[in-house]
Amino acid sequence: MTHSSPAPAGATRRTVVATAGAAGLAAVLAACGSSDGEKSPDASRPAAPATEGTGTAGTTAGASGQPGGGEALARTADIPVGGGKVFPDRKVVVTQPAKGEFKAFSAVCTHQGCLVKEVANGTIDCPCHGSKFSATDGSVRNGPARKPLPPERVSVSGDSLTLG
Ligand code: FES
Repeated sequence: MTHSSPAPAGATRRTVVATAGAAGLAAVLAACGSSDGEKSPDASRPAAPATEGTGTAGTTAGASGQPGGGEALARTADIPVGGGKVFPDRKVVVTQPAKGEFKAFSAVCTHQGCLVKEVANGTIDCPCHGSKFSATDGSVRNGPARKPLPPERVSVSGDSLTLG
């Protein structure tokens, strides 16, 4: 007990990241590594009114006012291999390009904001003007859309899929 190590000032400083923007990333990291059942209800987030189809450039719409982003979205068996499924109420489309590989994208068409309708033949299809996006990476396969569908985070836990 003659030895005493000097405590390095600030070396063990813990940074708690709890802002809305970084919480998603932290949640993904936490979801991958541990399952301690901890949930942080996001109570202070204002519910932004989502007015569809009237925005001029509404591409910043991510998880707009969803209460509790960590809620299960679907079962893995709901998403066909080589296809996908649109979840209109969550404005998200989930695909499974290869078995066990899940991708999620915004379901809001980057052309004029319609919701995409279905996933068929490897593309995510918008019914309004015929745009098609790759089910693998969201890139534009067929216009008039010019911008890819923004990716969303999806994580797999057992047989359930969770956004965020
Ligand atoms: Fe999707 Fe025009 S809004 S193709």
